[in-house]
Amino acid sequence: MRFDAVLSPVEIDWLPQTDLSATVCVVFDVLRATSTIITALAHGVEAIRPVATIGEAWSCHQEHPAAWLGGERHGDRIDGFHLGNSPMEYTAGDIREVITTTTNGTVALRACAGAQEVWVGALVNLEAVVRRLKEVQPARVTLVCAGTNRNVALEDVIAAGGVVAAFPDAGCSDAATIAAATYQACRHDLLAALQTSENGRRLMQQGREADVAWCAQVSRFDLVGVMKEGVIRAE
Ligand code: MLT
Repeated sequence: MRFDAVLSPVEIDWLPQTDLSATVCVVFDVLRATSTIITALAHGVEAIRPVATIGEAWSCHQEHPAAWLGGERHGDRIDGFHLGNSPMEYTAGDIREVITTTTNGTVALRACAGAQEVWVGALVNLEAVVRRLKEVQPARVTLVCAGTNRNVALEDVIAAGGVVAAFPDAGCSDAATIAAATYQACRHDLLAALQTSENGRRLMQQGREADVAWCAQVSRFDLVGVMKEGVIRAE
């Protein structure tokens, strides 16, 4: 197995033009999109359709009117949508299908659509991602860090590095090595790392401390989200 990592949203722009047909992509947006997707799947959501724009979300809703609309812009629920992007909004157990659009996370997921497989990763399902990689043994894995706006996000690099660190004998690009080193530097207090990240500080300023703490839980959920034909389901 060989790991590469895409650390910034600028690199994500290139993914649709990259041949990923022999690559498993694992997408991380720890604060909060992929943590929320994993939480939702763990609480009975059967299908999640990530889309890049608000317009696409409304069009998709016309085709799937039973789905709930979720996501955020600037951290807040989008006007007219049922749900925001807090993981705790998805725990009631009464939602079956969601269409979601977020600033970075869903854009990164869609950018990987041409990959051999697209998985949803977060700290909350770290062990499940590692176990599935051990089972599947893909030749090439790209860890896609969704970032924040146009910037690298520390929490995404940490989670990607947590995966790399579980495979000490695997081949690594420099980007994957950077991710693993970041994880090793932060792993003793992941909550503190998330709280001091730019994104964590922004969320806390918005009164979303509980979301940051939720997303810092390691391996709370034993599932991986797998995106096939634009739909994420638990596996
Ligand atoms: C994103 O996709 O950029 C995020 O998940 C942002 C957020 O939830 O605040």
